[in-house]
Amino acid sequence: MEENFDLLVIGGGPGGYVCAIRASQLGLKTGCIESRGTLGGTCLNIGCIPSKSLLNSSEYYHKAKNNFNSMGIEASDIKLNLKKMMANKNKSVQVLTKGVEFLFKKNKVSYIRGKGSIVSKNNVIVYDNGKKTSYKTKNIVIATGSSSSSLSGIDIDEKNVISSTGALALEKTPNHLVVIGGGYIGLEMGSVWSRLGSKVTVLEYLDHIIPGMDREISKEFQKILVKQGINFKLNKKVTGITYNKNTVNVEFVNNDTKTKDGIECDKVLVAVGRKPYTEGLNLTKIGVIKDKKGGIEVNKKFQTSIANIYAIGDVIKGPMLAHKAEEEGIAVAEMLAGQAGHVNYDVIPGVIYTAPEVAAVGKTEEELKILKIDYKIGKFPFMANSRAKVNNAVEGFVKILADTKTDKVLGVHIIGPHCGDMIAEMAIAMEFGASSEDIARTCHAHPTHTEAIKEAALAVDKRPIHF
Ligand code: NAI
Repeated sequence: MEENFDLLVIGGGPGGYVCAIRASQLGLKTGCIESRGTLGGTCLNIGCIPSKSLLNSSEYYHKAKNNFNSMGIEASDIKLNLKKMMANKNKSVQVLTKGVEFLFKKNKVSYIRGKGSIVSKNNVIVYDNGKKTSYKTKNIVIATGSSSSSLSGIDIDEKNVISSTGALALEKTPNHLVVIGGGYIGLEMGSVWSRLGSKVTVLEYLDHIIPGMDREISKEFQKILVKQGINFKLNKKVTGITYNKNTVNVEFVNNDTKTKDGIECDKVLVAVGRKPYTEGLNLTKIGVIKDKKGGIEVNKKFQTSIANIYAIGDVIKGPMLAHKAEEEGIAVAEMLAGQAGHVNYDVIPGVIYTAPEVAAVGKTEEELKILKIDYKIGKFPFMANSRAKVNNAVEGFVKILADTKTDKVLGVHIIGPHCGDMIAEMAIAMEFGASSEDIARTCHAHPTHTEAIKEAALAVDKRPIHF
């Protein structure tokens, strides 16, 4: 007999699994369909989590080799055991994906293994190893995420030409890694392999890295990465790849001069963005409308063109970030249970987990100019922060943008130590509609990196104490 659900979520990534847990908490009979074999989606299996493990391990390795001596720690013969580093990463992934399975049990979410296909607005078929099971459901949430994009004419074979998935599982440190795309993935994975000994060259189409982030931060970030040994070739449009015996040649056009050039390397990481993943869902047949980029169109309540079918996360518009998907998952679950459900898209932090980290929330200067909003700027360098100084990690600064008339904080952009964690303070401040004066008058513990935020807030009114 067919099992009946109130809600079937297709996709067990951060959007889908969080949605399923919240819906079950609210009393809906919920199932979550996942084909990967493990829960957690791209983020836990082949994205955020494994990359953070390698970023952490490679940073320790690099520090042990280059910085320990100056701190009076004499360690000799420091060697990289890449196999062990990868095993440590795989263990973290396994523990966390199993953790989601445990959360499903705890919250009474049915974990349905297999690939879901929507037959009609109330029927889903799940294919698993040749077995076909059909389910009835009142509502469906599509949370199938995204997959790596490539460039036309470039095939990702995960051997010499790799996506982020391949970059997380290399068995040998490449001699020369060329990264196509100076965005989140390119710079995080480029940092990992640079620290582990590769020569890294980033080819970026635009004249700056990390598009979308505040331009001043982007410039500072590039300067710091160059000092760390990463090479940048900006304004270069990659057009193709030719294969030699053991190497590949990445071909590109100089956007300014229109001249052609090439660069030889042993591995190429293609990190030019991700695209919504909807394969096998049967959307065209049942009439779910997609946008030009292949994403699913939704209204403010996350409803697709079929009212009881919802979509969240990377498969709809907006930043492709795990925490954005989670918020949307919770909002849909709460709406289905008769509650309000809301996502504040003005306050979604973004973090790049390099060393130093880069973190931002709210509007950039460039966006405020386009919106013709007058703003004041308060900046404070980590060079003048005592904690950063004693830790010998003084690169970067905090930049607060506040409305000229009301003093309301409109955006916060940080490059510096631990700012991926510190940005949460700014997200809360913005959720509460804080002014820069509110932040400046909040007591911050000394000595902490967070004092740089307080000082930047003081600097909005031109009264920093330590600079
Ligand atoms: P991205 O959109 O961040 O960067 C792609 C870069 O490729 C852009 O700078 C673009 O100008 C460049 N590009 C495009 N075509 C090119 C060409 N022909 N030649 C040279 N450069 C070209 O995409 P990325 O890094 O692949 O990341 C994908 C998604 O994953 C992003 O949306 C990001 O939000 C998410 N992500 C988030 C992370 C985090 O939160 N820390 C970590 C990793 C990924």
